Amino acid sequence: MNGTPDKKRILSGMRSTGPKLHIGNYEGALRNWVALQDQYNMYCMVADWHALTTQFGDTSEISRNSREVAKDFIAGGIDPAKSPIFVQSHVKEHAELHLLLSMATPLGWLERVPTFKEKQQDIGGAERVPYGLLGYPVLQAADILMYRPYGVPVGKDQAPHLEVSREIGRRFNHLYGNVFPEFVNIIGDIPVLPGLDMRKMSKSYDNCIYINESPDETAKKIKSAFTTPSKIKKTDPGIPEGCAVCQYLKVYSPQWETQWNEDREGLRGCMQSKNECIEAVNEFLRPMRERRAAIDDTTIEDILRDGAERARAVAQQTMQDVREAMHLW
Ligand code: TRP
Repeated sequence: MNGTPDKKRILSGMRSTGPKLHIGNYEGALRNWVALQDQYNMYCMVADWHALTTQFGDTSEISRNSREVAKDFIAGGIDPAKSPIFVQSHVKEHAELHLLLSMATPLGWLERVPTFKEKQQDIGGAERVPYGLLGYPVLQAADILMYRPYGVPVGKDQAPHLEVSREIGRRFNHLYGNVFPEFVNIIGDIPVLPGLDMRKMSKSYDNCIYINESPDETAKKIKSAFTTPSKIKKTDPGIPEGCAVCQYLKVYSPQWETQWNEDREGLRGCMQSKNECIEAVNEFLRPMRERRAAIDDTTIEDILRDGAERARAVAQQTMQDVREAMHLW
């Protein structure tokens, strides 16, 4: 079975740079995917080749990370029977399309992408930056255009990548004929969840709450999370907008408005907020953690094999049209 024909197709992906998704990944993307999977034929991709653009040095964990990320997709609520879950490198057609698109993509488009400029500086300039990293948006264009989707649900940070993907698709159509219909960005109503220290939640900052960690680990992290620095005594006024614990309450606690008011007015201490926050976050994650614990490696491998087959069926059709349009057939 390959989806319901009367539903529009959408595709999204996440890089598997580690074995665990955090609640920022969930809020920034996964929550939206889950909400869309009844309305659309949703293809969920684990972008392992994209992980290599920055982690080419040590590849020993790459397949384990892909499996673990796929388990987190299911824990978060993706139903693999409805929505194929697959690993990018299992569908080799992506590599062929990436190569062909790279021929028609001007270098300037890629050098201008903000994430490339940032990473190039982090890595230490053009002498050290891998060719593959420059091609990141071309590979992403291949991922997307391959499925000729109606739309792509992503977080706001991905907008520049989607713009380049659209440009690449347009250019292909202009040069070789209409193969790729234009897709739309599906950007949900996404709350921005800060990290435990109020910076962006990111594995590299070590400020994350993970779906797949124990309730005790979550509790320990929230206990040492950043709160209003000038609130020392319970009666000192808090500033919930700048407090990580209050930010989590806003997303996970139905009583957050009362909690915020009491914080502002010095009617509650940070310990009380932290305890209520621990309760709310762990309660929210409990069903996900239960679902996740029930998926073993054999199960996920079967799911990924099935997902790759369903994705490949679409990809092979697209590649036939691409080769024909380019007279490579
Ligand atoms: N660049 C995306 C990210 O960092 C991952 C990604 C790869 C992707 N291919 C994609 C997202 C295709 C949407 C569609 O999260």
